[in-house]
Amino acid sequence: MTAENGSFFPTRILLLSRTKMVNYKVTVYTGDLAGATTLNNVYIKLVGTDGESQRKWMTGLKGATAFIAGEMSTITVSCPTSLGKLVLIQLDKQRLPLIPEDSWFPAKVEVKSPCGDTYKFPIYRWITDSEVHHFREGTALRVFEDDNHLGAYSREKELKQRSKDYCWDVFVEGIPHCIKVDNPLDLPCEVRFSFTKTTEFAFTASTGLAELNLKGLAASKESWSNIDDINRVFWWKKTEISDYVQEHWKEDAFFGYQFLNGVNPMLIRRCSVLPSNFPVTNDMVFPNHQFNLAQEMKNGNIFLCDYKRLDGVKTSIINEKKQYLMAPLVLLHKTPDKRLMPIAIQLKQTPTDDNPIFLPTDSKYDWLMAKIFVRSAEFSEHELNVHLLRTHLLAEVFAVSLLRNIPMVHPLYKLLIPHTRYTLQINFLARLRLISETGVFTKFTASGGEGMITILRRSLSSMTYRSLCIPEDIADRGLETVPNFYYRDDGLRLWKIINRFVQGILEHYYKSDTEVQKDSELQKWIGDIFEHGFLSQPSTGIPQRFTTVPELVKFVTMVIFTGSCQHAAVNSGQYDYGGWMPNTPTSLQQPPPTKKGTTNEATMLKTLPDVSTTAQGMATLWLLSKQSSDFVPLGQYPEEHFTEEIPRQLIKDFQAELKTLSSEIKERNSTLEIPYTYMNPAEVENSVAI
Ligand code: FE2
Repeated sequence: MTAENGSFFPTRILLLSRTKMVNYKVTVYTGDLAGATTLNNVYIKLVGTDGESQRKWMTGLKGATAFIAGEMSTITVSCPTSLGKLVLIQLDKQRLPLIPEDSWFPAKVEVKSPCGDTYKFPIYRWITDSEVHHFREGTALRVFEDDNHLGAYSREKELKQRSKDYCWDVFVEGIPHCIKVDNPLDLPCEVRFSFTKTTEFAFTASTGLAELNLKGLAASKESWSNIDDINRVFWWKKTEISDYVQEHWKEDAFFGYQFLNGVNPMLIRRCSVLPSNFPVTNDMVFPNHQFNLAQEMKNGNIFLCDYKRLDGVKTSIINEKKQYLMAPLVLLHKTPDKRLMPIAIQLKQTPTDDNPIFLPTDSKYDWLMAKIFVRSAEFSEHELNVHLLRTHLLAEVFAVSLLRNIPMVHPLYKLLIPHTRYTLQINFLARLRLISETGVFTKFTASGGEGMITILRRSLSSMTYRSLCIPEDIADRGLETVPNFYYRDDGLRLWKIINRFVQGILEHYYKSDTEVQKDSELQKWIGDIFEHGFLSQPSTGIPQRFTTVPELVKFVTMVIFTGSCQHAAVNSGQYDYGGWMPNTPTSLQQPPPTKKGTTNEATMLKTLPDVSTTAQGMATLWLLSKQSSDFVPLGQYPEEHFTEEIPRQLIKDFQAELKTLSSEIKERNSTLEIPYTYMNPAEVENSVAI
């Protein structure tokens, strides 16, 4: 084998009779992306089972315009004999004198053989150097069936390079591992933000804070003197739902509603026995004996939200002031008119005299303050556990493991690569700008700094595979029949649709459990996920290896669901529900009342975050909720990694099912006071990208 110098076959084969040349029509498509064009000279070589062509300069009628973004270019490659079945192509580009080396984004190459067969070579990669790059023919192949020596060689070479390009790193001990990179520009080109995404992200980030700086808000350490003054910040950006929140944030029914359909639908669970540290009595919650607490628990009408993960977490200091974060317990009652009403709140885990159980019958401000402390605990629980850990950090682990262990020709790569788009870079930016020592989260939230690490570690150590699979999660939390629970309704339907699609694809390639067991690349993928994502904790229930096809199908369904639907559910509404600060304070500046009857409006204003903290929180939530214009919705695959008929048909079926669901969700939403849009497939992004 002499592939290192560009040739797989001895020269003599190429010199065989030239009497009857065979012609291959080669079409190269350049991707339609900013910066995809190359002005360098492009060369191609075809490699088949029976021989290889000469390396041919791709020049033609179009000249220098041949490789312009969105364009295609065709040439004929003539060979003395048939190359047999095409296995791969080699592509390289060389700069001309005086023209600098540029980056080129070839999308795909199609080759029409003399017998009339069309071979498709998906690429969708940046070529930035003058090295020779190998790209396999599009038919998906698992390692044990990749028996052509040329294919096997290129497969091995690709993975060797990938394991150098994508290395694991430890951000802090006790949380999932991440990609090792010091700067976004160190990320391999194919996983970086596009030019469009980079520009828009930087623009939204800088204009948000610049506007607040101009207003003098970002520097003000004052407390709010009037709740209506928050409008000075709030009018800056609005959504229909943030308007609704501003109007309804104090209402009990809306407080309850958010546990089902706000940005964190993951904490609430049915309560059949009161926790021993939450001594609520019947007289407290049903003073007129309208209901009986024990009976209502039996009837499945009582629900609990327990923030015990936050207990004893060290809080930060903001603008020289100590901050407060509670670990509340909230009891809710499903009323006969199908509303979920909070009936008791205890703000700390240990029941003591100075830790009263607050009730809706308490004074207006006692009850409102109790709810504000819950909503502020909700901010940390949601952002760190539900959003950062359970979607962003896991999606990164799935992606890095894929890139390190699975070559492009593998069906799993083709299936999952679109669901990793932008994840590595957005997570790098989150580590740099949000949770680093100088990050916004560290500086302006109660759990910033050490507290954040404690919460993330506790969250990971209690995370289970079941809780990542929505059908099991809903059943385990006893939420199957709760009315008006749109996260569940849309999520379960999406899970089923994704599951059917994944099953179709994987069962097409894996005809038996034995095939799963002997796919060493697949086994390395899950092994890396278990080790680097779940820190080798068997208690998570995450498989350490796959033994059956259904096991594989379920896990891959979870991977796609987590990066797309689950992330959308917990990400897209951040500004809707957090934009009006009193509904989701990032931090609180005073401890909670230890006695009833001691609070008033002034206490509340002194407790809410100061002006600068409010402004920073709002600007960040706006940035994190903003969809970029090159957003790719769930199930859309502009890059055609699958070239075979069956998977392509399965993709069409998947898209049709998603379209139907999207219409049904829109229809349902038109009847709702607060539409639940986050899991409408048309609004769900394919990957964790923001
Ligand atoms: Fe996100």
